[in-house]
Amino acid sequence: MADSTTDKSMMYRLMKERGANAIDDLTTGLVNNMNYSNHTVLYPNGEVEEGQGVLPEWFYPVYKGTNGFSELNAIIQYVSQESIWENLGEMMMGIAMVEMKHLDKLGDLIMGLGGNIADQKYETTYVEYGKSEEDAIRAGLKAEKATIEEYNRIIDKIKPLRQNETTEFCLALLAKLIADEQFHANLFETWLKENVH
Ligand SMILES: [Fe+2]
Ligand SMILES: [Fe+2]
Repeated sequence: MADSTTDKSMMYRLMKERGANAIDDLTTGLVNNMNYSNHTVLYPNGEVEEGQGVLPEWFYPVYKGTNGFSELNAIIQYVSQESIWENLGEMMMGIAMVEMKHLDKLGDLIMGLGGNIADQKYETTYVEYGKSEEDAIRAGLKAEKATIEEYNRIIDKIKPLRQNETTEFCLALLAKLIADEQFHANLFETWLKENVH
């Protein structure tokens, strides 16, 4: 009996792992194949370890900080704008899904670095809905630029460290995130060029 229970729990664990990975892979593939991220730059493969110089706290503000640049703030802003501004709906939802993937990858990273993603509180003070479509797009552009600046600040902290697998992974992930945010900024700038005269 003990053996069969062990087998069952092992099977369950394996299925759960596989299931979680399958959905992770599926959603990564999905957002890669939509035109709302830079699919020439890929998420890195690999692992990170605690104690390699990169501190998980460095990523807390951009994960779900109450500020104008966190990934959680971006998700709520774009999903809300999708509902408010009918003409922007498709683009905002597409971008929001990419931001969800960013949040997911940062959460995995913070956990891998020995950090904590549960305790940080969030509220929506900095979400900008926009008073017009143009205003909504400008709010998005501002947020994307602020996020890129924050990612660059983290890169500046990592670069002087003694380089190892963990620092390499973090820099590759940050390069991917910046490439996507730049793609979003370009989408917003193109929209403004085409729609504001
Ligand atoms: Fe993002
Ligand atoms: Fe973005």
